[in-house]
Amino acid sequence: MSGFLVHTLSLLLMPLLLGSARGLHNASQRMFKIDYSQNCFLKDGQPFRYISGSIHYHRVPSFYWKDRLLKMKMAGLNAIQMYIPWNFHEPLPGQYQFSDDHDVEHFIQLAHEMGLLVILRPGPYICAEWDMGGLPAWLLEKECIVLRSSDPDYLAAVDKWLGVLLPKIKPLLYQNGGPIITVQVENEYGSYFTCDYDYLRFLQNRFRYHLGDEVLLFTTDGARETLLQCGTLQGLYATVDFGAGSNITAAFEIQRKTEPRGPLVNSEFYTGWLDHWGQPHSRVSTEAVTSSLYNMLALGANVNMYMFMGGTNFAYWNGANTPYAAQPTSYDYDAPLTESGDLTEKYFAVRDIIRKFEKVPDGPIPPSTPKFAYGKVALKKLKTVGEALNILSPSGPTKSIYPLTFVQVKQYFGFVLYRTTLPKNCSDPTPLSAPINGVRDRAYVSVNGVPQGILERNQVFTVNITGEAGATLDVLVENMGRVNYGRYNNDFKGLISNLTLGCSILTDWLIFPLNAENAVRGHLGGWGGHGNSCHVEPEPHSSSNFTLPAFYVGNFSIPAGIPDLPQDTFIQFPGWTKGQVWINGFNLGRYWPARGPQMTLFVPQHILVTSAPNTVTVLELERAPCSSVDPALCTVEFVDKPVISTAVTYSHLPTWPDHV
Ligand SMILES: *[C@@H]1O[C@H](CO)[C@@H](O)[C@H](O)[C@H]1NC(C)=O
Ligand SMILES: *[C@@H]1O[C@H](CO)[C@@H](O)[C@H](O)[C@H]1NC(C)=O
Ligand SMILES: *[C@@H]1O[C@H](CO)[C@@H](O)[C@H](O)[C@H]1NC(C)=O
Ligand SMILES: *[C@@H]1O[C@H](CO)[C@@H](O)[C@H](O)[C@H]1NC(C)=O
Ligand SMILES: *[C@@H]1O[C@H](CO)[C@@H](O)[C@H](O)[C@H]1NC(C)=O
Ligand SMILES: *[C@@H]1O[C@H](CO)[C@@H](O)[C@H](O)[C@H]1NC(C)=O
Ligand SMILES: *[C@@H]1O[C@H](CO)[C@@H](O)[C@H](O)[C@H]1NC(C)=O
Repeated sequence: MSGFLVHTLSLLLMPLLLGSARGLHNASQRMFKIDYSQNCFLKDGQPFRYISGSIHYHRVPSFYWKDRLLKMKMAGLNAIQMYIPWNFHEPLPGQYQFSDDHDVEHFIQLAHEMGLLVILRPGPYICAEWDMGGLPAWLLEKECIVLRSSDPDYLAAVDKWLGVLLPKIKPLLYQNGGPIITVQVENEYGSYFTCDYDYLRFLQNRFRYHLGDEVLLFTTDGARETLLQCGTLQGLYATVDFGAGSNITAAFEIQRKTEPRGPLVNSEFYTGWLDHWGQPHSRVSTEAVTSSLYNMLALGANVNMYMFMGGTNFAYWNGANTPYAAQPTSYDYDAPLTESGDLTEKYFAVRDIIRKFEKVPDGPIPPSTPKFAYGKVALKKLKTVGEALNILSPSGPTKSIYPLTFVQVKQYFGFVLYRTTLPKNCSDPTPLSAPINGVRDRAYVSVNGVPQGILERNQVFTVNITGEAGATLDVLVENMGRVNYGRYNNDFKGLISNLTLGCSILTDWLIFPLNAENAVRGHLGGWGGHGNSCHVEPEPHSSSNFTLPAFYVGNFSIPAGIPDLPQDTFIQFPGWTKGQVWINGFNLGRYWPARGPQMTLFVPQHILVTSAPNTVTVLELERAPCSSVDPALCTVEFVDKPVISTAVTYSHLPTWPDHV
């Protein structure tokens, strides 16, 4: 954090700390509620209107939380809105993560210290273009579970989770001296097919039990009457969401049908929109955002801008929509602050609108962080997935006649290798096939170490293979992110149906769950001893268009003698196709320049070290630009500008219909 930032922070915090000290001694005076006669919120007895922005702490490294929150404060916001993703905090049943980047209480405290109120959306379902809408994949261990309903197993898991989470939240409520003014129950529940009021009543009951009777609970739904029918409940204040360019009068009329009196609230006013791999980067013009924002504020409405700061789907956290289309690593969202926290023209335009209605803080706005182009880094192939199998899957395979899903082998993210042998000679190309939705989501197929091709959910159902009877067939399956919206978010991963070779069903599988994170942190066992495989990989200039899935590594050092390094940077993948990338063991996410629109991945400075070389590990799944013919092509490059919006040249993916 720069000296500038610390200085600005301390100026900001002085009066606030005094304020909160008084709050602690006078907690009973703090109250936040609705004034139905004046159609507004009441804060400590005074009419109050929030102008808020969404930020997801789970998409911003904790290193940068203060910087982003301060920029939001300086834009004139008086509140932030945030989700809590259940699966981020309870990766395995009963195993909780609440430290470092998972320290949600610390994030809320920082907002408080910054003088920002908090609109909390703890789910349990959050949508958010986040894996499975925030629900943990282990819920699917009961295969027929009906998520987001009164299914007793679902409710039992929710109950346990809320029993852990909400007691942490209670002291942070406004009336208890904290910043949380309102708490959302579920999320756009009216868009889901179950329409189960008992479920909403159950949640309302649990929220009241843990948080008390005073807290203001609310719901959010798309601004359509049919959506509010299933999404709202007596006792939960109904709000709506809609984007720039919508008919504001008409949208708030919908809210008024459920809430004839009380504050007007747009809980998600879209400053931008989400992306999918293979579709153009979404943009919403600044002019459309500012004119709608002006009109809503002029009406006296409460507005939350979704997103104000989008951030990054690090590791495997992106979600997907149906028909299956996964979201990329960047969650920039075309928001006022970019993925890397930079100020944009939209930021200043929004601030200028806000200042027409409210006082925005004086003083300098923290500048965009400097970026550095560390340049090209040469990589070398370390091991194929097959060669590293002992390290990737230390517990070894599960044997099964028919394929098992990820959940059945208790692997929730990343990759599982399915291995069997060819039951017959396939000297002529023989079709290896899955049904339309049988491979979830992408399978990299090889026979005896010779790449054969790719199967892809909803896209590619057959690949021709050749090989002799008894040859090893490897099908490496990638989970590309679970569906986060709509009816199909019970999204099982892996081979969820049989594969057929010619006319016969393949059987007798060895199923290897792969723990890539541990293996990468352990440098995949180093350079020596090439695993246990006897496969010889052909050079990529063979007839095949694919290389075997493999790990490539390289080191780079931060240049000495340049002040203020390390700085943030962006990594790009010239000539690479699709895969996953880690720096010093930190999983940055997926890259897929062959499909776009995202070409670079954000690399925050705090994962870089100056004391030793930094290690880049790339798992290329499809085709690496590395061969002995021209080793100079086997490079990645660090640049100082993001590219997340290349023109996408194909449009074979279906367009996803609008949210509301
Ligand atoms: C408590 O706070 C309220 C509102 O901020 C203020 O009006 C009141 O005087 C305070 N009471 C005491 C005892 O400090
Ligand atoms: C917006 O909606 C209102 C109320 O439904 C309607 O009277 C008005 O004509 C609409 N405006 C536009 C531009 O469609
Ligand atoms: C497969 O082909 C090889 C050589 O092409 C032959 O030796 C072998 O007998 C064949 N196996 C079967 C099961 O047909
Ligand atoms: C597989 O091979 C057959 C016979 O050579 C050919 O007709 C078919 O188009 C191929 N299928 C694919 C998916 O390549
Ligand atoms: C695979 O095929 C077997 C035999 O037909 C069948 O019993 C089994 O249900 C199939 N598995 C899946 C996941 O479709
Ligand atoms: C191999 O890839 C290149 C470039 O992506 C493409 O032009 C070519 O058609 C592919 N060849 C085959 C056999 O798929
Ligand atoms: C990269 O750096 C790591 C950590 O300093 C070191 O263990 C490794 O040998 C280096 N690898 C190469 C290829 O230089």
